[in-house]
Amino acid sequence: MRIRILGSSAGGGVPQWNCRCANCAAARAGSPDVVPRTQSSLAISGDGKAWFLVNVSPDVRQQIMAFPELGPPITPPPEITGSSSLSRAEAEWRWIMRSTAVAGCVLTDAEFDHTAGLLLLREQPLRIFCTPTVHRWLGHDFPVEKMLAGFHDPTWTELPLDVSVELPLADDAPSGLKVHVFELDRHVPKYVSTDSGPAVGAGIGLHIKDVNTGGSLLYAPCLPVLNATLKDLATDSDCVMIDGTFWCDDEPLRLGIGGRSARAMGHLPVDGADGSLAWLGALDVRHRLYVHINNTNPMLNVRGPEHAQVRERGVQVAVDGAEFAV
Ligand code: MLT
Ligand code: MN
Ligand code: ZN
Repeated sequence: MRIRILGSSAGGGVPQWNCRCANCAAARAGSPDVVPRTQSSLAISGDGKAWFLVNVSPDVRQQIMAFPELGPPITPPPEITGSSSLSRAEAEWRWIMRSTAVAGCVLTDAEFDHTAGLLLLREQPLRIFCTPTVHRWLGHDFPVEKMLAGFHDPTWTELPLDVSVELPLADDAPSGLKVHVFELDRHVPKYVSTDSGPAVGAGIGLHIKDVNTGGSLLYAPCLPVLNATLKDLATDSDCVMIDGTFWCDDEPLRLGIGGRSARAMGHLPVDGADGSLAWLGALDVRHRLYVHINNTNPMLNVRGPEHAQVRERGVQVAVDGAEFAV
């Protein structure tokens, strides 16, 4: 499986358009200390040809431009045939005109930074995979489903919790990627005001296994706690990427950027005796990374002590464009 980090930042990106925190100011000024980052998203592929986006950020267009393998492929697949109304040559031409290497999109929650990009992919019908709760919110409260239905109506597939399913390619062929969805959070997005249904599966983690190589990835860009399922699945992973939104719990309050602590926002902080680094730094897994990093997090500054503290434990602070093969 190839794993490509399309965007390593939390909502807003680095720099964020309206932010003058130390990191945003440095990134805006072109300082080498803080690398600019786009918003949280991943691309994964079993065969190196068909890719799944894991979360679709508002920066998806820029992210696809930066990774041409996600753009329109040049050669039509051999299985393209004509039909009663379309000759093979016409079918090939249509395919060449408009096509994509993106086979589908898997969503880990319904937050804007992970879903707003779906509206920007309206030119092509895609498969969208998410939990029933995320599907409900994207059907009513942020009605992406209704909005996209007027373009190239995507296919929505609900992912059950705690079951392993192989992601199908656009033509239903197996992708070689098996995904096990597990619950992390029941946090309700701020835009959801009237919905009173259960929030089961509002925030999930993914454990994705390549059935051919046996390699696996654990991806959990937003998590309030390290639950037993996540800890267990992490030991069976070659690559673990988890929530690096905030360095410490009071960061949003202290900087005056939010009225709630990191934990209350659904983000376990990195630092501290009960922070995520104490666990991630001791985990015996080859690739360990922080993703979904908020622009205020001091570990983004490669010359700062927080960055050194993470690196000393063998953990990486993810950057856009980084790639791994497992
Ligand atoms: C989050 O990760 O907490 C959300 O994406 C916040 C937001 O962007 O509003
Ligand atoms: Mn977010
Ligand atoms: Zn900032």
